[in-house]
Amino acid sequence: MNTDIIILAAGQGSRMRSKLPKVLHQIGGKSMLQHVIDNVNAITTIANQVHTHVIVGHRAELVEQSLAGQNIQFARQADQLGTGHAVAQVLNNLREEGISLILYGDVPLTQSSTLQELVDIAKLDQVGLLTVTLANPMGYGRIVRNAAAQVTAIVEQKDASAEQLAITEINTGIMAVPNKFLRKWISQLNNDNTQGEYYLTDIIAMATADKVSIVTRSPRAEQEVQGVNDKVQLASLERFYQLQQARALMLAGATLADPERIDIRGKVTLEGEVFIDINVIFEGEVVLGDGVRIAANCVIKDATIAADAIIKNNTMIEQSSVGECCEVGPFARLRPGTQLAAKAKIGNFVETKKTSIGEGSKVSHLTYLGDAQIGAEVNIGAGTITCNYDGVNKFTTEIGDGAFIGSNSSLVAPVSIGAGATIGAGSTITKKVAAGQLSVARGKQINLQNWQRPVKK
Ligand code: UD1
Ligand code: CA
Repeated sequence: MNTDIIILAAGQGSRMRSKLPKVLHQIGGKSMLQHVIDNVNAITTIANQVHTHVIVGHRAELVEQSLAGQNIQFARQADQLGTGHAVAQVLNNLREEGISLILYGDVPLTQSSTLQELVDIAKLDQVGLLTVTLANPMGYGRIVRNAAAQVTAIVEQKDASAEQLAITEINTGIMAVPNKFLRKWISQLNNDNTQGEYYLTDIIAMATADKVSIVTRSPRAEQEVQGVNDKVQLASLERFYQLQQARALMLAGATLADPERIDIRGKVTLEGEVFIDINVIFEGEVVLGDGVRIAANCVIKDATIAADAIIKNNTMIEQSSVGECCEVGPFARLRPGTQLAAKAKIGNFVETKKTSIGEGSKVSHLTYLGDAQIGAEVNIGAGTITCNYDGVNKFTTEIGDGAFIGSNSSLVAPVSIGAGATIGAGSTITKKVAAGQLSVARGKQINLQNWQRPVKK
């Protein structure tokens, strides 16, 4: 059946005290609005039949840009005259036959299974309404039921009687409605209420009058229907979301030192059992092989870490791949384009960029390797620098298998060092070194026998 998704995202969200439109604030590294869209896209039973309409107003261009390339229809709501008025903006774009699922850009964590239940209700020519009972219902629309416990209306906080204010079952705002009814009811809305707004919620009383059943469902967790109005609520949903992700990771085989001290801003895929210590941040797409261990305070973004690799404390890895059984860190920085073959070892205060390092090679301390191709079983001494940049252009350094680079060497690119070559410590290498050669390029040591220190005049 045709399913139209209507997402309200026109509001400014002034309580966020932010230049960014509210729905673009992020949870787990993804905008709240994108969460809503992804939650819908995960309802598999409605795939291929979905049209998504997003109603934008405040900083509309920014919101539209954030969803570029996603096959979404936008409707502009210049003045925000209420939730019913917002839905009215897309009424003509809805398909004749089918149902609409109404969602809010600032309610990001509704489970797809919950949305699916509402959709299924609407398919049967009924209204599916998501409600929840709260200890403190203050501010929300209240669900009014008759003696037979059937929903008959929603009254907003500001319009409610004292008796109605005592109701603890509230409207989450999320509902699914057959299009033929939605068109009729929305066009009959008026703004005759305390706030002078066109209330979407008034369609519930119209459904009752038209003898259309209203069937309610509740979410599994309250946070699923929590909206974000300020940064305190944003942070509280972030924590809820992170804990959910941590749980999923543990159930997939990760041992977490503390599930409350891990942040996943993207997706982590496990290929087996892994151990993750505290304060690790994952961003983008990260794949962790079986037996991987990640120590405290690492930041890992868009990276693949192969089986049995060990990432030690305070290491940053971005757009890189780490081979099997590698050891990286502590305090290492793998910048984009780093590829470590199996059993490579990167020690503390080593920075790499656009560099491949062969199997079993060691770069143990205090080194910068940029635009370099390094073979297998190479030893790079402490303090080695590839001088890859002349201030205008970048050049590459090649180092063959089994080469030994003495400590504190500068390799001025473009330059190549052959397999098995040895570079004396403290050398500044500007010319090619052939395989097997020893190259020493430093001032010769002079020892003076009868030299005397100057004395104070
Ligand atoms: C609404 C419901 C209330 C429910 C509550 C749940 C109505 C009349 N009331 O109240 O029953 O308990 O949500 O949080 O629907 N928006 C627009 N255009 C508008 C007005 C609103 O896009 O003209 C968007 C807002 O940006 C927001 C959402 O719709 O994302 C909800 O609007 P808001 O004004 O917060 O509704 P509430 O008064 O909280
Ligand atoms: Ca609200």
